[in-house]
Amino acid sequence: MHLPDSVTIVEVGPRDGLQNEAHFVPTEQKIDLIHRLSETGLKRIEITSFVHPKAIPQLQDSEEIVKRIERKPGIIYSTLVPNEKGLERALAAGVEEIALFVSASETHNQKNVKMSISESLKGFRNIAQKALANRIRMRGYVVTGFGCPYEGRISPERVEFIVEEYKNLGVHEIALGDTTGMANPVQVGRMVNRLSPQLGETSLALHFHDTRGAALANVLAALQEGVTVFDGSIGGLGGCPYAPGASGNVATEDLVNMLQEMGVDTGVDLQKLIDCARLARQIVQKDLPSHLIHAGMVCWEGV
Ligand code: COA
Ligand code: ZN
Repeated sequence: MHLPDSVTIVEVGPRDGLQNEAHFVPTEQKIDLIHRLSETGLKRIEITSFVHPKAIPQLQDSEEIVKRIERKPGIIYSTLVPNEKGLERALAAGVEEIALFVSASETHNQKNVKMSISESLKGFRNIAQKALANRIRMRGYVVTGFGCPYEGRISPERVEFIVEEYKNLGVHEIALGDTTGMANPVQVGRMVNRLSPQLGETSLALHFHDTRGAALANVLAALQEGVTVFDGSIGGLGGCPYAPGASGNVATEDLVNMLQEMGVDTGVDLQKLIDCARLARQIVQKDLPSHLIHAGMVCWEGV
């Protein structure tokens, strides 16, 4: 099996995870979780979202989060931005990376941001100009990139179209999202294969939700096609408030465990990550879908 030597993990739990919690998690606890995640060796963390506070009240404290976290050198702290107003808020708070997002499904984009895909993309032009002028890095999410709960299977041509638009905007990375866990490993392999020549210097990250239990299998398929950036959510926190039935991303600790056991370096301390998952469980006061949170690390001694 051909696998890369190392991969980069992007932790999205504080944003993708906590945005879907039924209750508002106090700012202090979010900051504590971000600080603890910063001690694990992770190099990229998506910490919050500058969306409309009425749309996602769980993340209404985004300004405070950005201003109050202690940044650990070497870690990139990113925030989600849906529109120009979101960018203004992000710039005022002092971010270094933003993540734009648009769905590959017209219906999902309407429900998510009340805009058509082309309206979203048009709006990104001003955002990109301002962001680049302020030396802010941009990641571009393709939401519902493999399938949509409203429209079903998503054609690769639609993904290619959005990838091209993002490339023209100057994003450093495309994050292809399986928002409601509809992808399978064969589909993932084909999609990555297809996008690779188009991407050029632009990095590709895969963002799998584990709604139907295929996230780690999908990671393996992507790894074999050369993908080296994967998103995970601590404890498996999360879902999507505008996609019925969605559940969390693959748990970061489950992802890191599989990679490390296969000899793929992540630079992350797995035990510290499991401790963070247990902290996340305490914060949301409910059990989380993570496997490692229950099973712990593989222990070869004494077996
Ligand atoms: N932050 C704060 N306020 C915002 C805002 C933002 N990012 N975007 C718009 N607003 C305000 C406007 O200033 C305006 O305020 P006013 O009435 O006082 O003038 C009001 O909201 C309406 O603006 P409008 O542009 O019409 O926004 P909208 O109601 O069409 O909402 C989004 C558009 C994108 C802001 C909203 O749908 C949203 O935040 N969705 C979140 C989607 C999401 O995060 N999904 C999960 C991630 S995949
Ligand atoms: Zn997601």
